[in-house]
Amino acid sequence: MVGDFKTRVDWLRREIRRHDYLYYTRNQPEIGDQQYDEIFAELKALEAQHPEIVTPDSPTQRVAGRPLKEFAAVRHTIPMLSVDNTYNADELQAFDERVRKQLDTTDYDYVVEHKIDGLAVSLRYADGVLVTGATRGDGEVGDDVTANIRTIKSIPLRLVDGGPCVEGVPPSKRGQDARDTAIPSVLEVRGEVYMPTKSFVELNKARAEAGETAFANPRNAAAGSLKLLDPQITKTRNLAFFAYGVGEVSKPLAQDHFQALRRLEDLGLPVNPHAPKARDIAEVIEICQSWSDRRSQLKYQIDGMVIKVNRYDQRDILGATGRSPRWCIAYKYPAERAQTVVESIAVQVGKTGALTPVANLRAVPLAGTTVRRASLHNFDEMRRLDVREGDTVLIEKAGEIIPQVVEVKTEFRPAGAEPFPVPVRCPNCGTEVVKDEAGVYVRCPNPDCFGMLKERLRYFAGRDQMDIERLGVALIEQLIDSGMVKTFADLYRLKKEDLTSLERMGEKSAQNVLDGIEASKTRPLWRFIAALGIRHVGGQSAEVLAEHFGSLDAIVNAGQDELEAVDQVGPVIAESIYQYFRTPRHRAVIDDLLAAGVRPQPPAPKKRTGGLHGKTVVVTGALKGFSRQQAEQAVREAGGKVSGSVSKKTHYVLAGEDPGSKLQKAQELGVQVIDEERFNQILAGKE
Ligand code: IVH
Repeated sequence: MVGDFKTRVDWLRREIRRHDYLYYTRNQPEIGDQQYDEIFAELKALEAQHPEIVTPDSPTQRVAGRPLKEFAAVRHTIPMLSVDNTYNADELQAFDERVRKQLDTTDYDYVVEHKIDGLAVSLRYADGVLVTGATRGDGEVGDDVTANIRTIKSIPLRLVDGGPCVEGVPPSKRGQDARDTAIPSVLEVRGEVYMPTKSFVELNKARAEAGETAFANPRNAAAGSLKLLDPQITKTRNLAFFAYGVGEVSKPLAQDHFQALRRLEDLGLPVNPHAPKARDIAEVIEICQSWSDRRSQLKYQIDGMVIKVNRYDQRDILGATGRSPRWCIAYKYPAERAQTVVESIAVQVGKTGALTPVANLRAVPLAGTTVRRASLHNFDEMRRLDVREGDTVLIEKAGEIIPQVVEVKTEFRPAGAEPFPVPVRCPNCGTEVVKDEAGVYVRCPNPDCFGMLKERLRYFAGRDQMDIERLGVALIEQLIDSGMVKTFADLYRLKKEDLTSLERMGEKSAQNVLDGIEASKTRPLWRFIAALGIRHVGGQSAEVLAEHFGSLDAIVNAGQDELEAVDQVGPVIAESIYQYFRTPRHRAVIDDLLAAGVRPQPPAPKKRTGGLHGKTVVVTGALKGFSRQQAEQAVREAGGKVSGSVSKKTHYVLAGEDPGSKLQKAQELGVQVIDEERFNQILAGKE
């Protein structure tokens, strides 16, 4: 292996780790996405040329391999205990009294942390390299979710002493001179995998639009995402992580928890910055109460605080009872609830035809907003809760975001309130409904149902899809109700007089709407793909597809295997796309749109990073890092042409060992001869 090449690969890996850390852990990026993409692409290209140098801890290896059939079991070397709960200041005082009595001193302090609403995992690092990521399971045995854990960008695949941020200067800057800073050969990091609120809201929105059940709270969303068998999907879920403790360690990190957290930070792990020490229980209570009102400002959901005795020697004295330690307690915030009345139950038809019951509520303030509606999710759930029109109900904001009905106060039920019937016919078009495969959803099977069409059109025109300005929900309804629009393509055939014939539509507004529709004809290809409403395909997957295939035709005709081979497209997404384009009516929708003048714009061709564009290269002799075939492929991938014989038109002769007559010919003709090292430089775009 050429020395410089290896140096470059090492440097690229260090840089990428450092930028991942700055971006995902410190929230202080130093470079933009494009620069990051460039160094990442360079590393990928170099590793593709030399597959033998790929190591599991390389940043390119976060997602690797095929989906799993099932998770292997992992026995925790040190059990993952649970924590007892308290709900008020008195219970915290009682906890502190027990601690004081057992330690027989008042000389102890606490660390007070956010109780993140996610799921506990254990990350095992051997000689600084992540080897296993496991869920808590029953505390003794969990699931091996390593492949999914690796997709979480804030979790380092390799620990770096001093942190990947500023080498030699630990971020905590609290190092003691005599401290032994070597990374323990075995280090199990315990912490919480969670889904930031923004990602949770977006995921649920996308799921609702795809006709899938929403996650009730960020914990379920995080758990559901970490337990997927396909890491490609987990990768799209934007999970994050906070380290809050250790399991097995070959050498203690520190004498107390606070210092151990600093050491974890120094090793490049994300540690929640809100974890102060508290001198006594009064201070603990103050901190807990202070977060009660402010927690909605955080970027993640917390359901309480966790209070931990700081010193490890004192923890040993306190020990554990049953399944939870005596040195730790949780303080849980009450879920915010409100009581109100279900004024009516409505049935909505989604864009995939799923019928969803929705409770229209008497307006009630809850956790900062006025709530007027609550989803009942599906008819099974409605029946389980037995919600009826006129019922008094308790509503709760799941993860403080989506209001949902959690309990029916049957004692207040008005006489004569009957269970709400599961519809047998679609409320919009009257077609008889069908139950889906899982038996949970009731669907309208009529592809021309105008309720479904309204939702589809709303989605099609939406900001994240075709982005048609001024085509709002009310206008879409008018257009459908008047019979002017029955398909996506009908939008593009609208004339000014059609629009002005609608109520409250003047000349000027009509022109604005037409301009908005016209402008959407040349939206980027990815928007067009996203707008079709293919199940499981949101904006992100659409972008990946457009980028990969480059044209609508190529996507429409791609085989299932080809689709699956695309980065971030797992088997479920691939199957859904494949089936979509095999359905004649879907092909007709696309043909109709194209006939109506829609011209999705393919992505701009990728800038060539390799510098062989338009160059002819002859390869001769034995190369160290490439077989002949690999070298020729690398030339082609970098935009060059391969030739078997040297002529005046040859730009480079790549000469390895024992090159033979071609080298001689090159020298005679004055053609540039390059060695392997220079070839790598050119491929990496260095020349
Ligand atoms: S410490 C023995 N710290 O809460 C101590 N747990 O109810 C083990 N959690 O299973 C846990 N944030 O999933 C700890 N800062 C934090 C936490 C935390 C969230 C979760 C964790 C644990 C559960 C206990």
